[in-house]
Amino acid sequence: MDKMVIERSAPLNGSVKVSGAKNAALPELAATLLASSGWHSLSNIPNLKDIHTLKRIMEGFGVSFSSDAAGILKIFTGNLNSHEAPYDLVKTMRASILLLGPLLARYGKARISLPGGCAIGERPVNLHLDALSAMGASITLDGGYIEAKANGRLKGTDFFFDIVTVTGTENIMMAAVTAEGKTVLRNAALEPEITDLAKMLASMGAHIEGAGTDTIVIEGVSELKPASHTVIPDRIEAGTFMIAAALTGGKVIIENSEPEHSKSLMVKLEQAGADINVRGNAIEVCGKDKIESVDIKTAPYPGFATDLQAQFMTLMCLADGWSMFRETVFENRFIHVSELRRMGADIDINGNQALVRGKKKLLSAPVMATDLRASASLVLAGLVAEGGRTEVHRIYHLDRGYDKLEEKFLKLGAKIWREV
Ligand code: EPZ
Repeated sequence: MDKMVIERSAPLNGSVKVSGAKNAALPELAATLLASSGWHSLSNIPNLKDIHTLKRIMEGFGVSFSSDAAGILKIFTGNLNSHEAPYDLVKTMRASILLLGPLLARYGKARISLPGGCAIGERPVNLHLDALSAMGASITLDGGYIEAKANGRLKGTDFFFDIVTVTGTENIMMAAVTAEGKTVLRNAALEPEITDLAKMLASMGAHIEGAGTDTIVIEGVSELKPASHTVIPDRIEAGTFMIAAALTGGKVIIENSEPEHSKSLMVKLEQAGADINVRGNAIEVCGKDKIESVDIKTAPYPGFATDLQAQFMTLMCLADGWSMFRETVFENRFIHVSELRRMGADIDINGNQALVRGKKKLLSAPVMATDLRASASLVLAGLVAEGGRTEVHRIYHLDRGYDKLEEKFLKLGAKIWREV
């Protein structure tokens, strides 16, 4: 089983290009099911395990994929012959739930294994199912599978999400674009990945207003055409490198970012003492010797991203003072804490709050990755830990969401390599 080995590195220095956003590419791949003929073209799709898993599930439906010389992914969804997403694939990638809306819209039926919980929380999909039922779908659970059926076209609905849900908003947006009549989604998520999905759907002929606000209005159309779309850059990967610059006291330029998507992180990094300069699509982060302690409360966009909480906690482990973390999105997203403690971090957890007492140093150690973003926080810790090698085991968690991470870090001067 692969592990990542990291040794204490000099301050990172240089520029890096981030890959396409995992959490935009996944719904956008699913959205190709909504067009019944022609070839889609998706550019800037990241090379990630989750993307490969979703493609395997879609190939099981009869979808064809090919890549051209420029790396553009070509997708043909004209010959669908199945609508079942099997448990053995869904259990490895919860985002398979994003297939439900498009399959129901296209086929009028879908059989998707109910995604289990995962390390960071129970992660129910009740709001997805409630909204689809409000659109006329009949939903039953059978042997761990969601059995969904719609008699004819789905119907537009006016739906309020009790909790802001990213994939819930995306799933219902995709179900609604070819539904009969108007759909209004209230208390919708505002994430940039939703705005990017809406942009792709609009290029296919969908009528969507309000994406990026908490109220999205969709007028159903009868037919959609294939998309030609470029996935936005990954703001969580960009944020991981920005934090790495501050942590190592280095200077890193993220060349191809969307600075607007990283505003809350930039504010927090400046409070932590880093200098940040934005030039067009480039963000330059200069770390300092001293790291100031900063409190963090995660929240749906444009709040501080829960997907950057673990990485920022590593930074605060070396801050001058104490910082309080409040995780408000998921109920169990402090699993990285026990591993950071193995490296000498001084952290107390109380429910959804973690108090980090900054220290002078972290110590190299073998640690265990438990989920995607926790694994990133441990890699960051290895860059500054003293005393030898930090080994991050079960690194397959990292490969789900980071494309060639060690190559990108190597280019910035990090001492990092993969060992079997
Ligand atoms: C998306 O997950 C992301 N994944 C997550 O990124 C991200 O952490 C999360 O949004 C929050 O930003 C993808 O986009 C593929 P939610 P999602 O539905 O949509 C509760 C990563 O590391 N909820 O916004 O599954 C839920 O339990 C991953 O890239 C319900 O109760 O998250 C959670 O507490 C991790 N019922 C809260 O809402 C529902 O029907 C927000 O979850 C749906 C959600």
